[in-house]
Amino acid sequence: MSNILLTGATGYVGGTFLDQVLKSEEPSLKSLTIDTAVRTAEQAQKLKETYGDRVNPIKWKGLEDTTTVADTAANYDLVVNVGSGFIPAGAKALVEGLGRRKDGPAPWIVHIAGCTNLADRPLTQDAHPEREWDDEKDAGAIFDFMKEADAREPYPQRSAEVGVLEAAEASGVNAVSLNAPLIFGEGSGLFNRAGLVIPIALRYAITHGYGFKLNETANFDYVHVSDLAALYVLVVRTILERPDRGVGFIPTGRKGIIFPAVARILNTEIMERCVDAAFAGGVLPREGTPKEREVRQVSLQEIADEIMFSQVAVAERGWAGHKAMKGTLGPKLFGWKPQYTEEAWKQEFHDEFVALRDGRRGITLDACIGLRGN
Ligand SMILES: NC(=O)c1ccc[n+]([C@@H]2O[C@H](COP(=O)([O-])OP(=O)(O)OC[C@H]3O[C@@H](n4cnc5c(N)ncnc54)[C@H](OP(=O)(O)O)[C@@H]3O)[C@@H](O)[C@H]2O)c1
Repeated sequence: MSNILLTGATGYVGGTFLDQVLKSEEPSLKSLTIDTAVRTAEQAQKLKETYGDRVNPIKWKGLEDTTTVADTAANYDLVVNVGSGFIPAGAKALVEGLGRRKDGPAPWIVHIAGCTNLADRPLTQDAHPEREWDDEKDAGAIFDFMKEADAREPYPQRSAEVGVLEAAEASGVNAVSLNAPLIFGEGSGLFNRAGLVIPIALRYAITHGYGFKLNETANFDYVHVSDLAALYVLVVRTILERPDRGVGFIPTGRKGIIFPAVARILNTEIMERCVDAAFAGGVLPREGTPKEREVRQVSLQEIADEIMFSQVAVAERGWAGHKAMKGTLGPKLFGWKPQYTEEAWKQEFHDEFVALRDGRRGITLDACIGLRGN
């Protein structure tokens, strides 16, 4: 029996992963207990009440408390780190703890990162609209690119990914990172079930009456949260089920980056679909907004200030950047077959509109159009 620590059990990805593991009938998973590191007693209680003996919540202060993080990780052979990908010191502390184990099964960390780690900054630095990374063909080169980019310009999510893979390689820990594209769809965890990019884009479109663009070529690949969680499950099963625990089979260290990518779209398409959903839902047009569907050119600073907490670099990577990824390894190594493809993607914008309209997104439609409290 393996000994698994999960971070992010209250999150969109982590909650969906946990739900899938606990519903699985696979022999390697069906009686597994997972230790879930959480930050509040209420979270611990809800997990315990819902999942009973299948989970063992551990309360900690969070990934910033690196001493506790390393001491905690030292008790496990496998850490699934799908909580915040933006805390480099905490992520590296997980590796440090795993590296302390001198006997027992080969230690593994299965990490989460995101495609903005690969992005150019086409408005303020160099533009690479044609660039595409393939997780198999470019193994090693992707890591080298990110390491070099991060040395020039540290970006926490990238520092965490590079740091985990490098520290693991140096200390004999096996590490693989699923570098996720845009994640869409309703999660199935107990806490946050909502994605990020589409809710933000839809809210912008409803508030302003039009969509926005920073350029014509910014792109994202996408994956449904359920398919992403399924790939995490497959990776974990490979570690648990193979006699070699996946060592030598799953790429690790500087080659240990997998792209769970299904298909590619332009950012302008995201905004067009958001505007379409708002028109179809009858909230646009309204008085003072454009009568026709529109995706308007706006400035980077405006977008950074309005939707990205004034973080210009992060806004540029996400909303103007090119971050095309080709995911060869997921299907090839793990038989991953994404279930949610083009139809689900198109449906998403309507579903997200309904979730917002029905008050499932922590903000009401009325608040979006300035009618707070009505
Ligand atoms: N969502 C996307 O579209 C997307 C796309 C690509 C990559 N990613 C990567 O995936 C990661 C997870 O995304 P998500 O959408 O699942 O996020 P999420 O729903 O916001 O969940 C984040 C999880 O991390 C935990 N967490 C946050 N800060 C923490 C801290 N300081 N110490 C310990 N735990 C902490 C949260 O716990 P609490 O409940 O206690 O806050 C929660 O369980 C992102 O950080 C990013 O690196 C996300």
